[in-house]
Amino acid sequence: MERKYIVAGNWKMNKTFDEGIQLASAVNSAMPRGVAVAVLGTPYIHLKTVGDLISENSSLFLSAQNCHQEEKGAYTGEISAAMLASVGAQYVIIGHSERRAYFSESNELLAKKVDIAIKHQLQPIFCCGEGLEIRKKGEHIPHVCRQLEASLFHLPAEDMKKVTIAYEPIWAIGTGLTASPEEAEEMHKAIRGLIADNYGENISGQITILYGGSCKPSNADALFAKPNVDGGLIGGASLNAPDFVALIDALNKAKSGA
Ligand code: 13P
Repeated sequence: MERKYIVAGNWKMNKTFDEGIQLASAVNSAMPRGVAVAVLGTPYIHLKTVGDLISENSSLFLSAQNCHQEEKGAYTGEISAAMLASVGAQYVIIGHSERRAYFSESNELLAKKVDIAIKHQLQPIFCCGEGLEIRKKGEHIPHVCRQLEASLFHLPAEDMKKVTIAYEPIWAIGTGLTASPEEAEEMHKAIRGLIADNYGENISGQITILYGGSCKPSNADALFAKPNVDGGLIGGASLNAPDFVALIDALNKAKSGA
């Protein structure tokens, strides 16, 4: 299996229904051809309609931003992995730092979400990353390694291959601050090394590792040029089609000779 190059949009809690459909249509019609694929991480309300809209496009995929860890039941207001799969979602973002911070999601809880997502044929986009204090102390690599160990490394190799990892330093999310290409590459290389230690080089070479945190057209070329940066998980710049499409172009350009 080849490593995939992905630009994934995380719309977060943005876009009314009509605005979201407009955005997805604009991306769908401008979707560049190349090695890169794109994922639209929409709010729940958009999933079915966006999924139908992009179903003919073989390089555009649908993602939710979260799922509940239980199969089903009395969890008012929640959405299950089976429900997401039933409306055509192919991916689900799990463990975004905003969910860890505002909804107290622990590494242990996220391990359960990863399991139930995979059980229902959803590919997890698993987020990890450190806060500023941890980075300042120079403890960012062990911190991220612990997040991966606690939430992913119980998986058998066959399931680990289905996981996409998104490294998102919290201090870079929505702040305009970006990890330098060297900082991103250092972490991505460490993540791939840790996966190799646990699953072997063959599997670690297949895993897609995305960078997220103020990634935009003006800084994407340098980030995507790094050998272990396989694309981006994009917040703000995924909310308008020209920027999002420019990021897909940038990834195509960076990886076309890879
Ligand atoms: P920004 O691109 O807005 O910094 O958000 C990154 C992010 O959190 C994507 O999940």
